[in-house]
Amino acid sequence: MSGLFITLEGPEGAGKSTNRDYLAELLRGAGVEVVLTREPGGTPLAERIRELLLTPAEEVMASDTELLLVFAARAQHLQAVIRPALARGAVVLCDRFTDATYAYQGGGRGLPNERIALLETFVQGALRPDLVLVFDLPVAVGLARAAARGRLDRFEQEDLAFFEAVRHAYLQRAEQAPERYRVLDAAQPLEQVQRDIAALLPQLLERTHG
Ligand SMILES: Nc1ncnc2c1ncn2[C@@H]1O[C@H](COP(=O)(O)OP(=O)(O)OP(=O)(O)O)[C@@H](O)[C@H]1O
Ligand SMILES: [Mg+2]
Repeated sequence: MSGLFITLEGPEGAGKSTNRDYLAELLRGAGVEVVLTREPGGTPLAERIRELLLTPAEEVMASDTELLLVFAARAQHLQAVIRPALARGAVVLCDRFTDATYAYQGGGRGLPNERIALLETFVQGALRPDLVLVFDLPVAVGLARAAARGRLDRFEQEDLAFFEAVRHAYLQRAEQAPERYRVLDAAQPLEQVQRDIAALLPQLLERTHG
């Protein structure tokens, strides 16, 4: 048995967490086992690595250090949570995954994609998300939503160019594998975004029940 691995991607404030919970409700209503999780994090150890990644600090973190920490957390998360859940047939809804690494450490920080791909294969083997939901919206809109929440984390303190590069990287990845990606217009009112998500349900259920 093998479940379904769905990741939610997009910049800060795009609505990933809100819509992850919404999709979980829909799937559970249909009787599906859903595991909700997030990256970086998802296990106690990986959440400690998340703290290292997100907390602003005086010492500048080298981009390679950042990349390795992201994948260190991911290795733990995969072994402790994601792989076991998929093995028992659950749907895993993960708030950010490796596409975020390509977008932030690749697009944002400018690390070469080949380096990321190397670690992706090392840590994940052949495992890739079955479906990536990309919540796309103008950078300024997302930053305004994030700012409205209060104190900014280490990534949220980056400049507009960084987030433009993040957005571009997400859209480029979606274009390269349209069968595995669904780009959602996250600038729409939440109710409309949720209608778009609800429209995906029949095909998701079909893939869950075989
Ligand atoms: N389509 C929308 N229109 C207006 N506001 C929205 C929409 N979607 C989400 N929001 C609001 O924007 C804020 C950020 O949403 P949410 O926390 O789901 O985003 P996120 O992508 O998980 O952000 P982060 O990456 O920072 O965790 C919340 O206050 C949420 O209610
Ligand atoms: Mg969130």
